[in-house]
Amino acid sequence: MLEFTTLMEESVRNISPEMAMIIDSEEFKSLELQRRHFTSNTYAHSIRVAFMAGILAEKWGIHKEETVKAALLHDFCDRDTKTIDVEKQKGFYLFSHPIAAAINGDYYFGLTPRQKAAIIAHMFPGSLVMPASKMAWAIITADKLAACYETFILPAALKKAAVRI
Ligand SMILES: [Fe+2]
Ligand SMILES: [Fe+2]
Repeated sequence: MLEFTTLMEESVRNISPEMAMIIDSEEFKSLELQRRHFTSNTYAHSIRVAFMAGILAEKWGIHKEETVKAALLHDFCDRDTKTIDVEKQKGFYLFSHPIAAAINGDYYFGLTPRQKAAIIAHMFPGSLVMPASKMAWAIITADKLAACYETFILPAALKKAAVRI
């Protein structure tokens, strides 16, 4: 399981020196400290989303590097779902974190208007912002697939592995 995520990371890293630079940056690495979907963290989640968005970009004939960069940074914000009061922040986090990620991503690594719009729309349909490009749809689709994997498949696999140990 872990090895598979490492392979995805290598694949994303090899797309371009800029992808490797983002992955190796302190700011991006700090996402490892943020829990995401119970058994994962935002770093691993972002790698999975970037990898899958890259596959979709190839299939849909859209710019792969541009799409993968936006996907890598789609949750690039310092809101920690582990420490915030989830009940209180539930609705707020849904709306605020895509905007925070677009601002942070642009500040640290530079984003095009299309990449920023795609990041801001990534919670669709759970947000008010409509996706307006194929890139946005690629990120939305990859994000939902990764979230399902992390919420349902990964916990079950980890439980099974723990039983075996
Ligand atoms: Fe998100
Ligand atoms: Fe996400």
